[in-house]
Amino acid sequence: METLGRVLVVVPTYNERDNLPLIVERLRAALPEAHLLVADDNSPDGTGKVADELAAEDDHVHVLHRPGKQGLGAAYIAGFRWGLAEGFDVLVEIDADGSHQPEELPKLLEALADGADLAIGSRWVPGGKVVNWPHRREFLSRGANVYTRIMLGMPVRDATAGFRAYRAGTLEKIGLADVESQGYCFQIDLTLRTVRHGLRVVEVPITFVERTIGTSKMSGPVMYEAFWRISQWGITGLPTRLRRKRG
Ligand code: GDD
Ligand code: MN
Repeated sequence: METLGRVLVVVPTYNERDNLPLIVERLRAALPEAHLLVADDNSPDGTGKVADELAAEDDHVHVLHRPGKQGLGAAYIAGFRWGLAEGFDVLVEIDADGSHQPEELPKLLEALADGADLAIGSRWVPGGKVVNWPHRREFLSRGANVYTRIMLGMPVRDATAGFRAYRAGTLEKIGLADVESQGYCFQIDLTLRTVRHGLRVVEVPITFVERTIGTSKMSGPVMYEAFWRISQWGITGLPTRLRRKRG
């Protein structure tokens, strides 16, 4: 097992005023060495101000203020750019609403230290669980993953997962400059890029707990973007897949 170096946890927020202090406290306790970057899209509920207050009292907490709601993917790309420029070695993704448990992060980092280029906290591998998710959401997530597997042929069970750890080198290799995904399909986009670069993806079982405070930002346009992008990637990648099968 190797030592990983400096870890940055990027926490995207849109209207997470009441969740943010809780997740920051849990992250700071679970990984005392790690730095946190809150990427806030000028939340109308004042999350940005809460983030500034947390940063003022803790030198491991940083804030990236973005002008408005531009999507989860755009927020992560900005956060990753900041982290790479600051020389972090590992970049972590986690939701702010408590669905991903900071206490499970050491397992993801262990997978990286054991050689993974991307470690995914996965709901849909043996040992993975979801708690309190409405049937509709579970159906949607499972359906999206089945569609993704058929269209893209990736050997990943939870490609939409938002709880992950990337080596900095992985992000540098796959490149962020031409990522167009704005919403949640950003997760599938980066997974696909990682797989297509021949890098090693490891899924670690986690327990996803539905939020108890605030509301989900999943929406029709977010789903629609995912559907048409997956379809498009599937079709443009088809000749390569067929060639590989024949060859
Ligand atoms: N900055 C920013 N901008 N943050 C955002 C935006 C945005 O446009 N949209 C969502 N977020 C933040 C939320 O504030 C939260 O911290 C996190 O992203 C996840 O958003 P949720 O709205 O709670 O997502 P979910 O619970 O419906 O969806 C979960 O499942 C998806 C499908 O499996 C998440 O784990 C997603 O990452 C995952 O893709
Ligand atoms: Mn959520």
